[in-house]
Amino acid sequence: MIISRLILKNWKNFKELNVPLRDRAFIVGPNASGKSNLLDVFRFLRDIAKPGGGLQKAVTDRGGITKIRCLAARNFPDVEIEIHMSEFSSEEIIWKYAVGIKQETRGYRLPYLTYEKVWKGNKLILNRPDKDDKNDEERLSQTHLEQINANKEFRDINKFLESTIYLHLVPQLLKYPQSFTGPDLSDDPFGKGFLERVSKVNDRTRKAWLKKIELALKIAVPQFKEFYYTEENGHPHLEAVYEHWRPKAGKQQEDQFSDGTLRLIGLLWSLQEGDSLLLLEEPELSLNGAIVAKIPSIIYKLQKPKKRQIIVTSHSTDLLNDKGISLDEIILLELSPEGTIAKTASSIPEIKAMMDGGMTPGFAILPRTKPKNINQLTIAF
Ligand SMILES: Nc1ncnc2c1ncn2[C@@H]1O[C@H](COP(=O)(O)OP(=O)(O)O)[C@@H](O)[C@H]1O
Ligand SMILES: [Mg+2]
Repeated sequence: MIISRLILKNWKNFKELNVPLRDRAFIVGPNASGKSNLLDVFRFLRDIAKPGGGLQKAVTDRGGITKIRCLAARNFPDVEIEIHMSEFSSEEIIWKYAVGIKQETRGYRLPYLTYEKVWKGNKLILNRPDKDDKNDEERLSQTHLEQINANKEFRDINKFLESTIYLHLVPQLLKYPQSFTGPDLSDDPFGKGFLERVSKVNDRTRKAWLKKIELALKIAVPQFKEFYYTEENGHPHLEAVYEHWRPKAGKQQEDQFSDGTLRLIGLLWSLQEGDSLLLLEEPELSLNGAIVAKIPSIIYKLQKPKKRQIIVTSHSTDLLNDKGISLDEIILLELSPEGTIAKTASSIPEIKAMMDGGMTPGFAILPRTKPKNINQLTIAF
């Protein structure tokens, strides 16, 4: 299943948003245009749907409704989220889920639902507030999405959302997990528990996945020869052998790998692991442009057999210069005084014209993602 459309009102820097999403989607925009905020909608829905989650926790974890609601909105309106779901490579809607959230005006100022709706195809199968909600308003502090005994009719939506994976690997966290104290995040987005995750996969599968990563690293990393999993005093490690003039001198463990090598390993592992919605935050970071240019086709190749949706944020021209990317797959974010505006690149005539003139998506879009007065940046100092 995929999320084939996202509709938002008053979500962070999006006062309004309504965009179609494909099997593979690239969210592109200048710094601080809301790329991460957009991915956070899917993480928010996951946080509501997952076991031990729920609406109250998902809102509290984000600092309350006042942090979530768009600052450009007036009169404290609802935050609204709607998603449409379809089969992979299809636009036919099989599910719709919509929710409106507000904050109590008095007391503890807790979030509550103004509505929650589910459609199966075009048929409305949940429409809250219902009679029970009107008799007991406290029920509106929880969604049916988070309640096993209330979501039987639309369990598919719950299962899909709760298994969403977000990856934004921070090499330093993976290398030195013990140096970063504080609670571990349950979904481990930054790779602190990455090695643990690798250790939990059964031997055969792990070997097969690492073998593929080894093949990729042999191409991408100079002098890279061998790559495998090992344990030392019960602790999991990744080890690589580099070609070296001194035999045995070329062995290295993950804390010596380059940031780019580690990010590539994390990316290739996550693409092979699981088949749920995968959110990739700027996969181009620390990687050479020639490697970045291959990421879209690797994604395509690995997502297709699994029928898995992958949504990527990026501001890399290299990544978008893949000729296989269609303009329908690109969501462009542009800043305006009334919040960020999101459009599919295919709906912008200038970009279409540039593409028809033989340009790649990256070059057609680049002028729109750099700050307007960029030349004045040096003058500031
Ligand atoms: N509730 C909100 N209302 C309006 N803008 C917000 C809100 N929360 C965050 N922002 C703005 O969103 C921007 C950050 O967006 P982010 O998704 O991190 O950008 P990107 O990932 O594209 O660099 C910041 O400029 C921040 O001020
Ligand atoms: Mg960001």
